[in-house]
Amino acid sequence: MSKILFITSEAIPLIKTGGLADVSGALPLALHRLGNDVRLMLPAYPQAKKKLQQPTTVAQLYIPGLPGSVQLIQGKLPNTELSVLLVDYAPAFERDGNPYLDAQGNPWKDNAERFALLARAAQRVAMNEAGLNWQPDVVHCNDWQTALVPALLHNESPRPATLFTIHNLAYQGLFPEETFRALALSDTLWSPTALEFYGQMSFIKGGLVFADRITTVSSNYAAEIQTPEFGCGLQGLLRYRANVLSGIVNGIDQNVWDPQTDPLIAHNYSVEQLHYKSDNKNHLQKHFKLPVSVDHMLIGFVGRMVEQKGIDLIHKVIEHLTDLPIQLAILGSGETRFETALQQAAEKHPKQVGVIIGYDEALAHQIEAGSDAFLMPSRFEPCGLNQLYSLRYGTLPIVHNVGGLADSVTDATPGNINQKRATGVVFYEPTEQALLAAIKRAYEIYNNPQLWTDIISTGMRQQFNWEASAKRYMELYQAAMDARRSIEQNF
Ligand code: ADP
Ligand code: GLC
Repeated sequence: MSKILFITSEAIPLIKTGGLADVSGALPLALHRLGNDVRLMLPAYPQAKKKLQQPTTVAQLYIPGLPGSVQLIQGKLPNTELSVLLVDYAPAFERDGNPYLDAQGNPWKDNAERFALLARAAQRVAMNEAGLNWQPDVVHCNDWQTALVPALLHNESPRPATLFTIHNLAYQGLFPEETFRALALSDTLWSPTALEFYGQMSFIKGGLVFADRITTVSSNYAAEIQTPEFGCGLQGLLRYRANVLSGIVNGIDQNVWDPQTDPLIAHNYSVEQLHYKSDNKNHLQKHFKLPVSVDHMLIGFVGRMVEQKGIDLIHKVIEHLTDLPIQLAILGSGETRFETALQQAAEKHPKQVGVIIGYDEALAHQIEAGSDAFLMPSRFEPCGLNQLYSLRYGTLPIVHNVGGLADSVTDATPGNINQKRATGVVFYEPTEQALLAAIKRAYEIYNNPQLWTDIISTGMRQQFNWEASAKRYMELYQAAMDARRSIEQNF
């Protein structure tokens, strides 16, 4: 049993913008179920404060240079016994909207200060200097927003072991040198071997340089980020730290994403009762104002409308689909140029393309349940959760062969079909031609109902539970703690 401080910038059901929230809600809970003493720490955004159960203010911290005090509010993750610590400082976190962006979609101007504050509060808790009478054995940080923590803890001794998980290397938390100075961090951190990255301050380097162990969310992405194509300029550093870098694939919360019990979908079903899935398709076609048709293959998409997700490829491929019996149901939000282009495509092809701009948890479940196939043409994808949900919901994933998509979907090649291993359709180039060919290949399979049923049934039987991955994190925690202990004993 270990004491684990898990620090993140979002966690379901308190606050969510993407997959990090799914992981940060589910992994700490899995670790807790395995007998660990876990505290989940994140900023006290208004949404999170509202949902936290049994909230009590347990500490008041004074952070040098910060007017007033920071409160730590302890409570429970809704309907669980998992302890949560919210870092409450109204000027930083008490605002409407997204944890990272203002209402216009621009990053908050004080993001560096906000997440440095989270890190300073975490440092106090990690060193048992917050008055909680609790010191973690290991501190698990996630993405750039929490990456200063390993840097701040680095010179402490004794100190907890640190583990940093990369959920997305493309988001690095880069700020000008003046910001570094304004944050009053130790001068020794301003160096290319620390936080400096080509003249800028890089938050993520705090995790990549100083954490005792680094993980990312699939084995394939762990290898990819050591290459110039996917390394975002950090491939050299990651290769240097390759001996402590590994990939642990995300699980899915099987209680939330289960077609047999999902309360958000029109009709529950299982691999034995697949015929009920068509009720969900019917419902989804109506929701998107598409003609109700069994013959059309309905393809879903849910996600952030940004370049990473290959939205431009989806937009380009639409024009080539209009002479095929294929419909698209698309939900997402992100960059205005992509939102507008897709909305225009839907206006042009109302019988084939439905687009809903926004964030809608229930509709995301309904798309997974009601679609025949699911599109993920991501240019890179550290893990990806929607293809895992698709597999579970008997919805054939069509994916680009990158990151976690490559690790989790087995292409319907003749060989894989013969061995009953195929679970989806994989394509190998991020081009509209390759995507179109993949969609056409999926459509051919769709016209062979027995083969289709075989493939989706294989997908539905895959296991992506959190317990196995949580156990792998526990092994890494142990290795990092042992390494710390031996260093500290030698000094
Ligand atoms: P990323 O974290 O890169 O956005 P993931 O596939 O890991 O990608 O996770 C995205 C998560 O966010 C999934 O749970 C997905 O269903 C959800 N999601 C993304 N966009 C929306 C949306 N517009 N409405 C509802 N859920 C969404
Ligand atoms: C990131 C990645 C996504 C991953 C998620 C959770 O947002 O883009 O691929 O599934 O984090 O780890």
